[in-house]
Amino acid sequence: EETGKSGYDHYMLKEIHEQPRALRQCLRGRVDELSASVDIGDLGDLSPTGVQFVACGTSYHAALYGAQLFQAAGIPAQAFLASEYATGVPPIGDALVVGVTQSGETADTLSALREARSRGARTLAVTNVVGSTVARECDHALYIRAGPEIGVAASKTFASQLAALNLLALGTTSTDDTREVIAALRDLPGQVQSILDSSAAEAVAELYQDADAYFFIGRGQQFPVALEGALKMKEITYKHAEGFAAGELKHGPLALVTEKTPVFAVVTGDDERARKTVGNIKEVEARDAPVVAVTDGQNDAARYADEVLELPETHPRAAAVLANIHLQLVSYHTAALLGRPIDKPRNLAKSVTVE
Ligand code: G6P
Repeated sequence: EETGKSGYDHYMLKEIHEQPRALRQCLRGRVDELSASVDIGDLGDLSPTGVQFVACGTSYHAALYGAQLFQAAGIPAQAFLASEYATGVPPIGDALVVGVTQSGETADTLSALREARSRGARTLAVTNVVGSTVARECDHALYIRAGPEIGVAASKTFASQLAALNLLALGTTSTDDTREVIAALRDLPGQVQSILDSSAAEAVAELYQDADAYFFIGRGQQFPVALEGALKMKEITYKHAEGFAAGELKHGPLALVTEKTPVFAVVTGDDERARKTVGNIKEVEARDAPVVAVTDGQNDAARYADEVLELPETHPRAAAVLANIHLQLVSYHTAALLGRPIDKPRNLAKSVTVE
């Protein structure tokens, strides 16, 4: 088993460090920068007029992100928790139904896709496992090519899902910023490496390892990142952690914010959205909560933060992938300091085959 970890203390840390390679594999042969085009095989002909994503856990957060990519291209898109979809199927029309599932075996996701198919929908699997049930049952499959993931809590597969969903959106819709997104995807593996080489997240973990609870906030593309940051923290540290849409904080969760609850705020760019999130940071700062800004320095977030996890400048879509790397490392190092069984958290399974 030790050899399998290649010298890392845990599979999860090894897999976190495999992300530059996993992302390169996902993009290889699928992106042509010169012609600003994406080749995802016959999937390119899907041209959906609507998209419904179904997924669970970490994959659901990737699905929320994916839905935003299609919305940005003018295509109605929604992400559903697979377990809820199966019990209350929304009108499907001629939407493409996309199951996002690392393992390709999650019962809730398979069940939602079967329901959609039984109502005549076209289905697509975005998965890591060739020959998985989801890949066999769906009309089409897009592989994320992350390589095997042993750690129960997903890490590298989330980054690869986000990259693959970008390919799917670019390959099946048309948008004005295709060239910029392709360039950002090309730069992503190197930028992920620079974050992996920094010790900033480990220092943050040391500072806040005794906290009572952790909150994560983000807007737009960074909202799924906030949700994923909190899920990772819960799964491997057993600490209370919640992710919120930054604007929603004041509608309830703010009551939980104290000087003992660090708030991680993911804020990129300097548009209206970023300015509003900086406003939300001020609200928690006024309650004496420690603030960790995960930011590219283009806005005022760092001014109101106790700690900063820096992001290189890039397209907001790619920034989501990069911000998540910092948050993975904070959770990992917090769990390591607390002595948790990181690769196999209590009560959890890598692939859940019951509904
Ligand atoms: C389990 C795992 C999670 C994962 C979820 C969905 O609950 O512990 O890490 O996100 O299943 O898995 P899938 O294979 O469908 O992506």
